[in-house]
Amino acid sequence: MGKITRALMKAAEERFEHLEKVSKIKEHDQFVIRKMKDSVIDARIIAYFDPKSIISEQYKSLMTNLLSGNKSRPEKVISITSSIHAEGKTITALNLAITMSRAIHKPKILLIDADLRKGKMTRYLGIKQETGLSEVLRGTANLKDVLFNIDIEQLTFMASGAVPPNPAELLASDAMKNLISEVRSMFDYVLIDTPPVIPVTDAVILGGMTEGTLMVVQAGRTQRGMVDRATELLNQAQTKIIGHVLTGIEYFVPEYIYRYL
Ligand SMILES: Nc1ncnc2c1ncn2[C@@H]1O[C@H](COP(=O)(O)OP(=O)(O)OP(=O)(O)O)[C@@H](O)[C@H]1O
Ligand SMILES: [Mg+2]
Repeated sequence: MGKITRALMKAAEERFEHLEKVSKIKEHDQFVIRKMKDSVIDARIIAYFDPKSIISEQYKSLMTNLLSGNKSRPEKVISITSSIHAEGKTITALNLAITMSRAIHKPKILLIDADLRKGKMTRYLGIKQETGLSEVLRGTANLKDVLFNIDIEQLTFMASGAVPPNPAELLASDAMKNLISEVRSMFDYVLIDTPPVIPVTDAVILGGMTEGTLMVVQAGRTQRGMVDRATELLNQAQTKIIGHVLTGIEYFVPEYIYRYL
């Protein structure tokens, strides 16, 4: 287990203890605790368990920047990637999707696990869903059969499915383009989690098909040269990078300051 993972797990445990203390004060937090105890969802999906925490606030700022900013028309179909493996793409995509689905106007969100090589989203969500994107692209399943309704607001999830022999080819196919245009008309926003840019071409292919790409960068690990190289590859495919998300940052503001705002 890496240093960051340990720190995040510890933070989740501490948050749980903290919630137990405040539960005597707030009814809303008692609900959070009950869900935490028997939920199958990974504790790192903090936007789900603890929407008022400092970390959840960061996902809310990310959402605000994405959806409003100075934009007249925010991007509807967004892919999430990073330069190398394990920078926090999938955790970011999950927390962002949950945060967006809880936005005031309750938009319909689709979250797609497009990491056909080692998609881990079902594990993070604690669900068993074997068919997904891979099957739709190969024509062995229909779109409606792989849209999984998670019990969180209007959030729909599509798993990666079985690992195919030719992931990049499937993602570059017309079937993928058609799928994007179909889900674009069905949902308010579509978030697509992808593999890292440098080792495989999948994220570059998908970046060219989406309206914007969010680049996750892990602080203290990913070197500038890698981010530059990944950016160059994305730019070559006419991908529009709409923002960078820095993961692995420590905060020094005590939690209670945020909670009592
Ligand atoms: N904001 C964050 N701050 C610190 N650690 C994080 C953050 N987001 C994710 N992590 C940690 O980073 C690790 C990798 O997370 P995740 O699976 O989301 O990465 P990934 O980029 O999707 O990996 P892969 O390239 O294998 O798909 C996990 O252990 C997770 O706990
Ligand atoms: Mg991932």
